[in-house]
Amino acid sequence: MDISVKAPAKINLTLDVLHKRADGYHELEMVMTTIDLADRIDLTETSGGIQLESTSGFVPYDERNLAYRAAVLIKERFSIKKGVRILIHKHIPVAAGLAGGSSDAAATLKGLNRMWNLGLSREELEEWGLELGSDVPFCVHGGTAIARGRGERLVSAASPPPCWVILAKPPHGVSTAEVFGALRMDRVTRRPNLDGMLNALESKDFHGVCRHLENVLESVTIPAYPKVRRLKEKMAAFGAEGVLMSGSGPTVFGLVHRETTARRVVNGLRGFCRQVYAVRILGGTEGESLV
Ligand code: C5P
Repeated sequence: MDISVKAPAKINLTLDVLHKRADGYHELEMVMTTIDLADRIDLTETSGGIQLESTSGFVPYDERNLAYRAAVLIKERFSIKKGVRILIHKHIPVAAGLAGGSSDAAATLKGLNRMWNLGLSREELEEWGLELGSDVPFCVHGGTAIARGRGERLVSAASPPPCWVILAKPPHGVSTAEVFGALRMDRVTRRPNLDGMLNALESKDFHGVCRHLENVLESVTIPAYPKVRRLKEKMAAFGAEGVLMSGSGPTVFGLVHRETTARRVVNGLRGFCRQVYAVRILGGTEGESLV
């Protein structure tokens, strides 16, 4: 194996939809942060072609996989004859609203940039990432950032104060395209207060961060999947101070300050949900690190 790259998941602290654009995408304004739940991507140079393997049976092994498409993009643009074997050690739940596939693609872009000495800057990798998917630029960027446009216009933001993030992933996956397709802004009753969230982050105000968690896509996913609401209620009842659905869902996360409370929330949720994780925010560091 030549290169190993960590591919962390993200959560949305806020997600607002400003309007639908002429190109069919939605103009977004959101705050995202990376968390310490990560896939690992091992890249090995081969004599030709692209082979993708994964420790998970839930990810496709061909062009449907964003990491595979990242390798195709790099090979084509730089006319690289050599090939690569991509091994994805999968830990991030799939179709969960945690950008697992996007982060695998971002890590593949970064890893191949190094492996083949391409000299692409982070900004260039972000631009290339957008060709693969709206969340890929943020996954290249890492840390904590405001994302606008489709998700590619990124401005670094202060990281959340150290805390625990409890994640609960219901058994079903959710299609982002379907969620955006079903969004009716006239049914959205609550919108994020971006300045409120940024002020809370800037002053490392844990309670303020919890108070300003808001995601307009909950207005679509929660009515379609009542389990998401029930998980939010359980998380709050067991002691999480702020609870929100991440991205288009269905994963719900809760923010907790104290480790003892984190344990209580995890133990309480175990009876209701099979996939429960307790991780830390990575938001202050670069999303990428070689392992
Ligand atoms: O860019 P990506 O392929 O990840 O987006 C998946 C789908 O989510 C798009 O096809 C689109 O339906 C929806 N989307 C959107 N507006 C965005 C990002 C995604 O409507 N800013």
